[in-house]
Amino acid sequence: MIDRETLERKFGSDSVKFTRGPGGFVCIEVANAAATAKISTYAAHLFDYTPAGERPVLWMSGSSWFEAGKPMRGGVPICWPWFGPGAREELPAHGFARLSQWEVRAVESFENGTVTRVVLGLTPEQVAKPELVAFAFDLECEFWIGRSLTVALTMKNCSDAPVVVTDALHTYFAVKEAEAVRVRGLDQVGYEDRVVGAPVVLGHVQQGDIRIDREVDRIYHSTGAVEIYDPGFNRTIRVEKSGSAATVVWNPWIRKSHAMPDFGDEEYHSMLCIEAANASVDARTVFPGEKRRISQTVTVL
Ligand code: BG6
Repeated sequence: MIDRETLERKFGSDSVKFTRGPGGFVCIEVANAAATAKISTYAAHLFDYTPAGERPVLWMSGSSWFEAGKPMRGGVPICWPWFGPGAREELPAHGFARLSQWEVRAVESFENGTVTRVVLGLTPEQVAKPELVAFAFDLECEFWIGRSLTVALTMKNCSDAPVVVTDALHTYFAVKEAEAVRVRGLDQVGYEDRVVGAPVVLGHVQQGDIRIDREVDRIYHSTGAVEIYDPGFNRTIRVEKSGSAATVVWNPWIRKSHAMPDFGDEEYHSMLCIEAANASVDARTVFPGEKRRISQTVTVL
């Protein structure tokens, strides 16, 4: 059991408080000179990031679950050690990292209190359902909260055999009106269309900016930074990344959002997922003792 008071004594400061957040999970609330943020220790789930003087950058559903054993809808779910549906029916979508209680490993302050680093960790013993764990690992999630936000996930393969993992930092961005948004940076990039029922066409290539005018569920391959231009909020959000070969772009649109119990019927207008990922053909083989890191940095320009 993770004890809020002990964590507060050990890691608390003027800019970092340990509270009981939604669902009763221990929550780390950061309020430094450059930004505020909230991280649930359950799921290592960042669900609020607001740079000083800006509106919130991340979107959270008003219908999200905050319940052990279920994922949260919004913020930055950590998808690991697999992205997408499990290989077998009993394996949860997007892996077990977002369904586990993590431990707090470090909280530090840098650059005259304008940057806070929070480090959470997960090991196999902490996974609620041990039958989901196929190999020994150490997983660490770092949050750098300041004028920019960086989320970095580092895995170490502690087993004696190579493992194949897929992963994603499944970031939900708040937008004024998804239909008006343009996503720049993926022009001429090839992608897989994952919309269920969409014709399977090989060789999709993005033409120009991405517009959200239907259900969008795509894995773009060999990608770099993208920008979300949001005329409604009059802002551009830059999303940079490293250790990630793919970018997932997702908006469930009407049919799918109606089908999801933890997603409001009209909420698809106000969100857009841009996910730094290693997914599908970009699965990574991680050798015994090897460490792999994926990170995403978000800046409101
Ligand atoms: C996206 C996938 O990353 O996550 C979609 O590409 C999926 O196919 C979406 O629907 C949400 O997944 P979940 O498991 O959080 O409902």
